[in-house]
Order: sequence, then structure tokens, then C-alpha cells
Amino acid sequence: MTTTTVTTTVPTAARVVDAVKVYGTGDASVRALAGVSVDFPVGRFTAIMGPSGSGKSTLMHCAAGLDTLTSGTAHIGDTELSSLDDRRLTLLRRDRVGFVFQAFNLVPTLTVAENIRLPLDLAGGKGDLEWIDALIDVVGLRDRLHHRPSELSGGQQQRVAVARAFAGQPDVVFADEPTGNLDSRSGEEVLGLLGRAVRQTARTVVMVTHDPVAAAHADEVVFLADGRLVDRMESPTADKVLDRMKAFEVPS
Ligand SMILES: Nc1ncnc2c1ncn2[C@@H]1O[C@H](COP(=O)(O)OP(=O)(O)OP(=O)(O)O)[C@@H](O)[C@H]1O
Ligand SMILES: [Mg+2]
Repeated sequence: MTTTTVTTTVPTAARVVDAVKVYGTGDASVRALAGVSVDFPVGRFTAIMGPSGSGKSTLMHCAAGLDTLTSGTAHIGDTELSSLDDRRLTLLRRDRVGFVFQAFNLVPTLTVAENIRLPLDLAGGKGDLEWIDALIDVVGLRDRLHHRPSELSGGQQQRVAVARAFAGQPDVVFADEPTGNLDSRSGEEVLGLLGRAVRQTARTVVMVTHDPVAAAHADEVVFLADGRLVDRMESPTADKVLDRMKAFEVPS
């Protein structure tokens, strides 16, 4: 196992400390996270990789405040999530966190423009209109604004979901296999978008993926196995990530 100690003054957009998550009780219990500490620095694109069942989605859900830890702490910026009551947690998720899921999760009855604005409309605010206007161009959907999701390709729908995730200028966007349902070309477009959002607008993205090519778009990859953080890799390439993943395969 390789451990890297990174001394940095970059603030963290999100982090978990000694995160343990146990689902169920007794014989049926599953320890999905077995003591993970990891930070996601501001302005960085981090990929989370690891075998199926290694705890990637659990880590993301707990870090984002969608689920609670059994022990340990999760923080968005300086806010420790377990210190918040339900109302404050809901507000934090709404105002400071964006999400992109594998199944695009758009509202079918709303247009593209309405879907992008949905988090802001729910918050009862206008948001930053210039930012949203620029986002529409970044995701290349200006000529589709009045279409419904069912009239769009999968790649276009996921680009709407990316725009929606960034609409409220959140501190951090969490994406769980955002390219899992896309062909490779649409996947590349969505990954390029996430990368540009980080590099051009200093946003923070944390993305779970199975795909070494997708992970290579990130600034850093963190590897999970059996609910533990087992490695981190700076400046990943698809080949380096693939080699690292092969090392997980225990010879029988
Ligand atoms: N709601 C749940 N109830 C019980 N066990 C769960 C629940 N969610 C996840 N698990 C278990 O926790 C472990 C980690 O699951 P998790 O979904 O985090 O893995 P993952 O790395 O995202 O896997 P995949 O790559 O297949 O999406 C698995 O053993 C899984 O079966
Ligand atoms: Mg998962």
C-alpha cells in the first residue's frame, strides 16, 4: 500500500474523517466504510475508483449529506454535517452541493431551461443570471432550452443535469458514475464539461467512476477497496489507473 502525505494550505470543499458506515444490524450487517479519511480540495477534480461494492457510492452519499455516517465526521467546507438539524442539512444540500447521477434524474414535465433553474426556483431565488446564461453555452444547450428531456439524447440529458448541478454555484458537485449510461463520445463531452467547470470556474468536483478513461479527466484519483482508502494518484492517465486497478485483483 502506498501512502502519500500531502501538506497543503488549499482549503477543502468537502472531507470525511474516520468515516465508518455500517448498513443493517447483527449477522446481516455490512461495513461499507471501514474508517476512511479523505479530503477534496477546493478547485480540484477528484475521481473515486475501486471495485464494485468497495464503498464508493456510500462515501459520496455520506460526504454529500445524503446519508449519515455510523461514526466519524463529514464536512462541507467548515460545516460538520452531523451538527445540523434536518432543516439546516436540507438547506446546505440545496445551496452548497450539486449532484449528478447515472440516471439523469431530470423532471420529465419541465423544459431544459426549467430543469436547469429548478434548484434556484426551489430556493425561491433568481440566482446569478449571467452565470446561468454562460452555463447554457458551456453545456451547449441554447438551441434545446424549450425541449423536454424525452426529446433529448442521453448525452444531452446528462449535460442538462450538469448545468443544473452547477446552477446555484455550489461549493462542490458530486457525480456518481455520470457517464455510466452514455456512449463514449457523449461521456467524453460530459467529462470535458466537468473538467472545464473545475479549471475555468474554480469549482470542485468529486466523481465516482469505474472507467479509467473517465478517471484520467480528474486531477487526482483516490482508490477504495473493502471500505478503505488504499491509494491516491496525482495526474492520472488511463494506463496508470488501469495498472493500479489490476493490482486490486488478488491472484487466486
Ligand atoms: N442501503 C444499503 N443497505 C445495505 N447494504 C448496502 C446498502 N447500500 C450499500 N450497501 C452495501 O455496502 C457496500 C458498499 O456499497 P456501495 O454502493 O457504496 O459500493 P460501490 O463501490 O458504489 O459499488 P458499485 O461500483 O457496484 O456501485 C456493498 O457491500 C453494498 O452491498
Ligand atoms: Mg456505486
